[in-house]
Amino acid sequence: MIVLAIETSCDETAVAILRDRELLDSEVASQAAQHRQFGGVVPELASRNHLQYLPNLLQLALAKAELAVDEIDAFAATSGPGLASSLLVGTSAAKGLAIGAGKPFLAINHLEGHLLSPFFGRPELVPNVSLVVSGGHTLLVQVDGLGDYTLLGRTLDDAAGEAFDKTAKLLGLGYPGGPEVEAAAVSGDPLRYNLPRSMLGSGNLDFSFSGLKTAVRYLLARVTGDGETGAYSAGKSKDSKMVADFCASFQQAVIDILREKSLQAVRQIRSDYLAVSGGVSCNQSLRENLQEACDRAGIELLMAEPWLCTDNAAMIAFAAMARLKANDVSDVTQEIDPNLALVG
Ligand code: KG4
Ligand code: ZN
Repeated sequence: MIVLAIETSCDETAVAILRDRELLDSEVASQAAQHRQFGGVVPELASRNHLQYLPNLLQLALAKAELAVDEIDAFAATSGPGLASSLLVGTSAAKGLAIGAGKPFLAINHLEGHLLSPFFGRPELVPNVSLVVSGGHTLLVQVDGLGDYTLLGRTLDDAAGEAFDKTAKLLGLGYPGGPEVEAAAVSGDPLRYNLPRSMLGSGNLDFSFSGLKTAVRYLLARVTGDGETGAYSAGKSKDSKMVADFCASFQQAVIDILREKSLQAVRQIRSDYLAVSGGVSCNQSLRENLQEACDRAGIELLMAEPWLCTDNAAMIAFAAMARLKANDVSDVTQEIDPNLALVG
């Protein structure tokens, strides 16, 4: 079986082709450079770029996979959650291709793409506790099989990736913030600034990152003397040691929250596996912290390779292949849902 998948839920235009378990090609055209000047994703610009990039990307992927369109068995696209105008571009293209070729269409939940990505290249999906941690979502999910998901906890406000992005913005670093904060944190002292680890003692598996964001703002205002906004304004000369220590302290606070909540969930479910996915799971310190904690607790940690953690179409193709093999295809009339949930 050969699946071609399109991912356009946010600001990455991506196409991948998967033959059973073999990835034939994966293309990602990032728009980050264009959105950087606005300090975040501009939906109108994102959808226009998807329209512009997608035809070439489809041709490129087919050429690299050495396939013609009529050799594809099914066409998939992310149908939500995400930006409506961006989702429409990818799903319309996949539907058009499916109708033209007389092949099935699969509408894939972006979160399921992330959730299953740690199993890419592994022999089977095992029951696990899954932490999905991205720019728009922070979820803990009990996974008992394909489509058999139980929500254990979620963020009540900001996502962890959003906290990275907002902190980077306040520090005058670039977009997306995660990689910038991680790079600055390398030479920083994580113990210099004391930031809150919200909801660790809440007795449930929900998260909250808005308190951390507010604490960052106030602390930064105090440290820089930039009382009003708490932001390092452009052009202001920066204390690079302070920025490094600030990033390291912030990053460690997020890591501590994600690690402790995930371990609580694994203990509660008595699972043998913790799977971690989504853009924030690229973070090397998070990966190392989780690995150490899981080794100590005798839990097997499953993480996708970093290139599969941020948005891509290979994870959408992988989820679509699992759905196709389970004969769970979609009707071409199925609409996008910008607020699509993972669990009903
Ligand atoms: O999964 P993703 O590509 O898109 C969403 O579905 O949201 O995740 C993007 C998020 C952004 O907030 C970005 O700052 C964060 O993942 N991120 C990171 C790192 N790389 C990306 N956060 C921390 N450390 C990183 N290295
Ligand atoms: Zn994502």
